Amino acid sequence: MATRPLPEVVLIRGGTLYDPSTGHSRQRDVLIVDGMLAADGESVPSGAHVIEAAGCVVTHGFIDLHAHFREPGGEDKETLATGAEAAMAGGFTRVCVMANTDPPVDSPEAIAAIREKSAQLPVIIYPIGAITAKMAGLELAELRGMRSAGAVAFSDDGKPVTDGQVLRNALLYAADLGLPIINHAEDAALRGAGVMNEGALSTRLGLPGNPGMAEESMVYRDLLLAQNTGGRLHVPHVSTAGAVDQIRAFKAAGVAITAEATPHHIALTEELLRGFDTAAKVAPPLRTDRDREAVLAGLLDGVIDCIATDHAPHTVEDKELDMVNAPFGMIALESAFGLAHQALAGAGATVEQVIDMLTARPAKVMGLELTPLKPGAAAELVVVDPHEEWTFGIGDIHSKSRNTPVPGMRLRGRVRATITSKGLSDIN
Ligand code: DOR
Repeated sequence: MATRPLPEVVLIRGGTLYDPSTGHSRQRDVLIVDGMLAADGESVPSGAHVIEAAGCVVTHGFIDLHAHFREPGGEDKETLATGAEAAMAGGFTRVCVMANTDPPVDSPEAIAAIREKSAQLPVIIYPIGAITAKMAGLELAELRGMRSAGAVAFSDDGKPVTDGQVLRNALLYAADLGLPIINHAEDAALRGAGVMNEGALSTRLGLPGNPGMAEESMVYRDLLLAQNTGGRLHVPHVSTAGAVDQIRAFKAAGVAITAEATPHHIALTEELLRGFDTAAKVAPPLRTDRDREAVLAGLLDGVIDCIATDHAPHTVEDKELDMVNAPFGMIALESAFGLAHQALAGAGATVEQVIDMLTARPAKVMGLELTPLKPGAAAELVVVDPHEEWTFGIGDIHSKSRNTPVPGMRLRGRVRATITSKGLSDIN
């Protein structure tokens, strides 16, 4: 379902409209004329493109706070345009892109270039600027200039900021600028050469392990720095039960921090590494079932604010290397809803709660306004069938890369259509 220009008239028929900014649901058709939501009761012009939505929920497009689109420098893995295709296929209408490109996005000019190159794409791309110059971890990048150019947050994601004083200064500056700092929390020395979760399974497989405390020690340091600076820390891709406990304790103490979890950390475990499948090699690693359940519980009780994908494309050649040498990361946009909904529904969540974790909750973390779901507003919608059980296949991938362990898995919940004023992607 490649994205095509939005037909002049689109009718989404028979669905339930759920507005995550109000929490209200009602059964109604949605008519879109020239990219805008039409008034209630407006007659449907002939020739409308009809999206059948019986049994489906029609809602605000998803917002991803964490994706790697690789442009500039890694266009063989993903470009802004192919990343936008993957986003549309996954129900995402806005994506924040990480700065670990080649060269890293560490200047106002680089932020401006991403905004210009993505202006015509069907999804909104929000650039995240690097925390440190060249992502070298030593000196702060031009944070103020990047904010003026349109950066929505700062992160060296992919690499931790190891120097505590540098991160402390970053939090102080970012507090002044009103933007969050997102630190990739893995202590590099403790992680060492680890390629999977450290434990009985890594020992049995003979693979170098990355212990949970590599994440927990750095999350704890970062939480202390946030508490002491008043800076806005956002903790990415939480993967351990211990990190969830720490975030819970600091939130309870009134520290203004936020956190995200990926679909893979709430749905998958280290067991996938048994087959030495490099598609399941990711940083931080897939962990134990106990960790998975704790992260899932954290999302459900609000200690973890939202879902973010950490979509991290790599070429087939890169991932064909052995477990030790293949790069970390998996693509995630296309499977995000099905995988996350499957795990969360299994734990008792409603589809509306899952939608909130992908819309209102990430918007709040990043200070973004949702588009109102009312007449006159620009279309920014997704149609999901929460009941559909389906097998995710290679054909569902729209990214330029293929690195995901999800193909062949049964998922519950599927994106049927994504609609923005610039494009339509549907599987009707
Ligand atoms: O697995 C990962 N891959 N984790 C990250 O934080 C970075 C990402 C990448 O850029 O490939």
